[in-house]
Amino acid sequence: MPARRNLIYMDHAATSFPRPREVIDAVAEGLREFSANPGRSGHFLSLEASRAVFEARETVAHFFKISDSRQVIFTKNVTEALNLAIYGILEQGDHVVTTSMEHNSVMRPLRDLEARGIIQLTVVPSSREGAADISGLAKAIRLEQTKLLVVNHASNVVGTVVDLKAISEIKGPAYLLVDAAQSAGCMPIDLSRLDVDLFAFTGHKALRGPQGTGGLILKTGKEPVKPLMRGGTGSHSEFEAQPEFLPDRLESGTPNVPNFMGLAAGIRVLEAAGVDQIRAHEKEMTGRLLEGLLRMDRVRVYGPKDPERQTAVVSINVDGMSPSEVGFQLDRNFDICVRTGLHCAPSAHRTIGSFPRGSVRISMGMTTTVNEVEEVLGALKWLVSH
Ligand code: ALA
Repeated sequence: MPARRNLIYMDHAATSFPRPREVIDAVAEGLREFSANPGRSGHFLSLEASRAVFEARETVAHFFKISDSRQVIFTKNVTEALNLAIYGILEQGDHVVTTSMEHNSVMRPLRDLEARGIIQLTVVPSSREGAADISGLAKAIRLEQTKLLVVNHASNVVGTVVDLKAISEIKGPAYLLVDAAQSAGCMPIDLSRLDVDLFAFTGHKALRGPQGTGGLILKTGKEPVKPLMRGGTGSHSEFEAQPEFLPDRLESGTPNVPNFMGLAAGIRVLEAAGVDQIRAHEKEMTGRLLEGLLRMDRVRVYGPKDPERQTAVVSINVDGMSPSEVGFQLDRNFDICVRTGLHCAPSAHRTIGSFPRGSVRISMGMTTTVNEVEEVLGALKWLVSH
């Protein structure tokens, strides 16, 4: 265990830390009590493991307000969920529209399909604050040809939040795929009231679950998503073809039972705290941080600079210092953990004007305190005056 005097963790957009005690306990319980293979063997332990996975699926469905939990497809992370949606739905000749703020987990699969001549891709530039150009997206959609519209709900670089309702109103017959990596858990999301066809989430960020968990939610279950992988499902084993029903069509191989139990425990922690309250707290922390940063000479702040329009993610640069030097100094001298560089989203940095050096990203979570925000501001004040 690395010995740190006074750890200030400001890297919640990369992964949540610390994990709640309830999550750690649930994973340990899963390993200890449910280590049988769900859906495979008929004995009582296997049935218990199946029940644990079913309960985790129900917990996710209830949290995002989906009535049928079979439409929740478990994956190992949001990257797999996005790949499943993109490779699963797109076919030769399809057109795709996306924004310039997307993460490489969207850009790389789309650029791969484009480079192989399978799809045509239109990337609509977002504003320098990272806001989606909704009328630009609407104009880019080709009524007969656009199969998919992909948007991230909140930027992993500057936190800018996209209005999903407005986006869903312009999508026409295209499927709307939302990358909710940075919003699931820290913003209220009610999928029963949003026309989102495919919703990709990760378990280990604001949902507070373990790494190795994520999922893709299908709005109706009728979306024509083909599997990324085929294999054992424990169902219809007499056939060598993949079963057609959900979730088995899109989930093969032994699932990560203990970690999905941990994910469900993380969601229960959020439900007990209240997502509205978490959002209010994170807005307050973001407001305090922005206020201090905007008063500092030599510090450039990117993004909306408005807690109402962003998550608790703030990107900055310090004049005369590289992002990695700032991150190194914060880590070495102040035990402050931030992420520096391009955050796997080069196109987002081109959009906000910080390519190729990237930025210093300070990202907060539900456990971030006023005192921690003040410590970060104090450390940066020290850095800019030395
Ligand atoms: N995509 C994650 C981040 O932005 C890992 O840090």
